[in-house]
Amino acid sequence: MSKEKELIVISGATGISGSETVRQLLRKGYCIVAFDNFFASSIDSIKDVAQHPNLMFFEYDICNKEQMQKLEVLLQKLTSQESVELSFINYAAVVHTRHFYIPSSTFKINVLGMKSFLDMAVRLNAKRYINCSTSEVYSYGSYKEGGVCENDPLLFATAEESLRTSYAAGKLQTEFFMKEAVKDGQIKGCSIRFANVYGSNELYPEHIIPYTINAIRNGNTVKLLTNAKNTYRTFLHNSDSCSAVIALLETPSALDGSVYNVGTGEEILIPDLVNMIAAKMNKKVNIIYEGKRTADPERRLLNIYKIRKKTNWTPKIHLSDGLDECVKCS
Ligand SMILES: NC(=O)c1ccc[n+]([C@@H]2O[C@H](COP(=O)([O-])OP(=O)(O)OC[C@H]3O[C@@H](n4cnc5c(N)ncnc54)[C@H](O)[C@@H]3O)[C@@H](O)[C@H]2O)c1
Repeated sequence: MSKEKELIVISGATGISGSETVRQLLRKGYCIVAFDNFFASSIDSIKDVAQHPNLMFFEYDICNKEQMQKLEVLLQKLTSQESVELSFINYAAVVHTRHFYIPSSTFKINVLGMKSFLDMAVRLNAKRYINCSTSEVYSYGSYKEGGVCENDPLLFATAEESLRTSYAAGKLQTEFFMKEAVKDGQIKGCSIRFANVYGSNELYPEHIIPYTINAIRNGNTVKLLTNAKNTYRTFLHNSDSCSAVIALLETPSALDGSVYNVGTGEEILIPDLVNMIAAKMNKKVNIIYEGKRTADPERRLLNIYKIRKKTNWTPKIHLSDGLDECVKCS
């Protein structure tokens, strides 16, 4: 089937992942129906492609029944005219540390929103559904030599330790919805556990990379949590995270209801990340440690063998090059 007959429906389309996916899919010739309620983004992130003839965009909320009904009616119309293959990508979510700790909103948007969007995809006889979960589900089990695998047992922090787990627990539930729908033959699809996604269009100024760049630019002091001294993370450029989503979308045999890690093997100690950014900006930096985040694993490393075996995806952008881009564009 030609790409013109493939229609991709994207929620959370103006977020860091959604906007880059829209661009990559348009470049590949797909048609897109996209929406976002601008909870954490704005139309600015897709202004370069907003007038593209293959893109229809709506300011809709995934939890708003009326708006979702309107979307469903539109999709019914578009698919009834000729044989059009429908796929869904669900990015809409309450994602960031600022909101992590609010279980009621993470449940409503991330869990109920995901499920009703999946139900819509099934009703419309869509072929594929890509569900974005998170590497946060690994919680205390986030590290082992060679990286954690999708089928490793999970070791969750509890509510007594951190409300932040509600985000991970909700995302884990969506993985079960995805698995069940595929097992019951309702749709093809998979869940994705991204590592920390970053990019030059990062929307959250308090995230470590934009925060560090801004702090160095506005003085030379960077404040880190005390646990950051011993914290290693990997960072996945959003051009790579989105190409992974598309690689899975385009590999029918991978859409077996299971979970895929998407990350890089490039671990870096957080203070080293700060020093690396400072060096790229030709500035000296003074790091101050204060405060603490509970239930935050010291290392998080994903094993990405499974997605590399099933698709031809591999991360292409090294952290150093990605940081050059972030510094240049900031
Ligand atoms: N960024 C990361 O490091 C990371 C890591 C793991 C998983 N993820 C997952 O990847 C997906 C995409 O996240 P992102 O990094 O692009 O974050 P993002 O915050 O940039 O994008 C999420 C988008 O969803 C939108 N949204 C929120 N509530 C909505 C609602 N009720 N209706 C419609 N839209 C709504 C926001 O406005 C935003 O544009 C999410 O499901 C997230 O949980 C992200």
